[in-house]
Amino acid sequence: MKRLILFLAFVAPLLLSAQTNKRVFSPQKNVMLEFSLDAKGNPGYRVAFAGIFAIENSSLGFTTKETDLSGGFRFVSAAITSHDETWKPVMGEVDHIRDQHNELLVRLINKDEYRMDIRFRVFNDGVGFRYEFPKDEGHNTLTFTDEKTAFQMGGDHTAWWIPGDYNSNEHVYTTSKISEINTDPYNQAEVAISAQHIVDKTNVQTPLTMRMADGKHISIAEAALVDFAAMHLQADVKNLRFKAFLIPSPDPAVKSINTLPFHTPWRAILLSEDAAGILNSKLILNLNDPSKLDDVSWIHPTKYVGIWWEMHVGNGTWDYAGGQDMSSATGRAPHGKHSANTANTKKYIDFAAKYGFDGVLVEGWNTGWEDWFGKWKDEVFSFTTPYPDYDIDELTRYAKEKGVKIIMHHETSAAVPSYERQMDDAYAYMKKYNMDAVKTGYVGQIIPRGEWHDGQWMVNHYVRVADRTAKNHIMLDAHEPVRPSGLGRTYPNWVACEAARGNEFNAWSRGNPPEHETILPFNRLLGGPMDYTPGIFETRMSTYKADKTEVVHTTVAKQLALYVTMYSPLAMAADLPENYEKRLDVFQFIRDVPLDYSESRVINASIGDYITYARREKGKDNWYIGSITDENPRHFDVKLDFLKAGKTYEATIYADGPGAHWKDNPYPVSITKKTVRKGDTLALDLAAGGGCAIEIK
Ligand code: NOJ
Ligand code: CA
Repeated sequence: MKRLILFLAFVAPLLLSAQTNKRVFSPQKNVMLEFSLDAKGNPGYRVAFAGIFAIENSSLGFTTKETDLSGGFRFVSAAITSHDETWKPVMGEVDHIRDQHNELLVRLINKDEYRMDIRFRVFNDGVGFRYEFPKDEGHNTLTFTDEKTAFQMGGDHTAWWIPGDYNSNEHVYTTSKISEINTDPYNQAEVAISAQHIVDKTNVQTPLTMRMADGKHISIAEAALVDFAAMHLQADVKNLRFKAFLIPSPDPAVKSINTLPFHTPWRAILLSEDAAGILNSKLILNLNDPSKLDDVSWIHPTKYVGIWWEMHVGNGTWDYAGGQDMSSATGRAPHGKHSANTANTKKYIDFAAKYGFDGVLVEGWNTGWEDWFGKWKDEVFSFTTPYPDYDIDELTRYAKEKGVKIIMHHETSAAVPSYERQMDDAYAYMKKYNMDAVKTGYVGQIIPRGEWHDGQWMVNHYVRVADRTAKNHIMLDAHEPVRPSGLGRTYPNWVACEAARGNEFNAWSRGNPPEHETILPFNRLLGGPMDYTPGIFETRMSTYKADKTEVVHTTVAKQLALYVTMYSPLAMAADLPENYEKRLDVFQFIRDVPLDYSESRVINASIGDYITYARREKGKDNWYIGSITDENPRHFDVKLDFLKAGKTYEATIYADGPGAHWKDNPYPVSITKKTVRKGDTLALDLAAGGGCAIEIK
């Protein structure tokens, strides 16, 4: 009887409705992907994980101008293959990554004889799939109008989301149930930041990470975003379902135009028993193609300082002759405050050389800053013309003598065709002046008008820049791009992106709440490192101007811990040199912390609450622990079971000092040294908005 009920419940519906139904399991058999084609030829899928359906029956496919790719398919064939390979990232949180999965390739053909293949890869920590459109007789182009891929959740999970803004990912995260997703408040509060942002009422960005009632975690993401519009998600809050939403082109009905053969980016579903599993997942990197570069010897971890924060706090200006100053949205600053002058740049080079930094970022070195912000002008900046008070020949000589590299800055003001016209000259100019890293920026509304930061045209632009900089042996750090999707594997010179709300917001806006950095690693960082610009020791903006009320929502110890918890091979010590020179004992941690690791362990983690990592320096036996908390103080006992047995280490602990609190008392850091061995326990006390950083040598 029981068997009959089971048969009726599970098997009979399939027999009745599904024409074809293919299953593939992960290597450990903990994840199962089932593809189905129903009687009407509609493709669908579902994903089981650890005894539940993490994704219940959900649709697949597209609508296009040429043909309907969401139904009316006939099954052609299916094949399952296995894959197990270990590869080595050039730099990273770990020195090797295992890519072990089983693949199901399903071939379909529709009533207009268009072919569509779906390639599913099933890993022990989730699923990836992409659509492939082979070249066939008579069909050349697909004009995508909508994507039908859906993600049917099995419950009203807790989600950490930012609104589906076509133009920016620099938002504060909201925590809510899926059923409560509502981006309306953003339309009033945040959208004013730039000239025009589009936020659809229930659209959220990917990666979207969620926690289920029983503590399991799921994240919906994208991998290898190339030549396609970025995928946001439209939340059907009643039915607890998400549907892919592609960012439009200037014609709102058209999302992406592609020439066959073509394949989409991967749709990725990360699955884990707990929060730590999401941080440990390498699924997005594994779905990306291997490195396109044969020679990566010139790519290196880069710790840098820069002519940067002083403009953000209003001490100086980017422009030469008096112009916008971050300290006043409308006012023009007086002359004589131009920060990127020869003498000031030398001061930073001296500082970098003295304290062992690789680079000095110089913003405001080139012409164009007088009138760039929010102007939507076709031609703004020259990327080969320094201001008259910036002696680039002398500074190149000086930096070389001091063993420091100047890091180039290319703010495009989103006038992208202008940048593309100048790109080759700009990179040749960088090489002439001995530079090997560029920070790009896309502040404002995109030109060509009608394009969006997350649309297909811009996606192609970011990749073009990665490709062209690679050919010139230049490392790339893109600010204001679409959020990364693991392409740093394919272009290892693309070392970091901003693509989220960085520390800078604390200088001139309501800032980032203390929980912000305990959320980013679970979504934004899954696709690649962030240039978050940590290391702010002077957290109160009133220090710079008496009437300012902004503060960085942090203790100083937490700023140290961020170097460990927010992994990036390119990391800035963002504060002013004079603020570091006042606290050289605390600054020592920033000098010492490595930017490349052999292994990383999540000691504890809870999204929006806390994260503790221990990481082993690449090829060495030195460990670095970073622990951060949200607005709540916390106590953690960290067992040092990862140390080598029989060895004695010295731990230097940078902890929140007595009475520390992000708001009332951010500065105290207590530094203690301790002899430790494998199996010892370190007691960490984190203040409200605080953190702890530890070096174990
Ligand atoms: C925004 C970037 O995030 C910031 O780092 C930069 O200083 C300004 N744009 C100016 O380019
Ligand atoms: Ca930014």
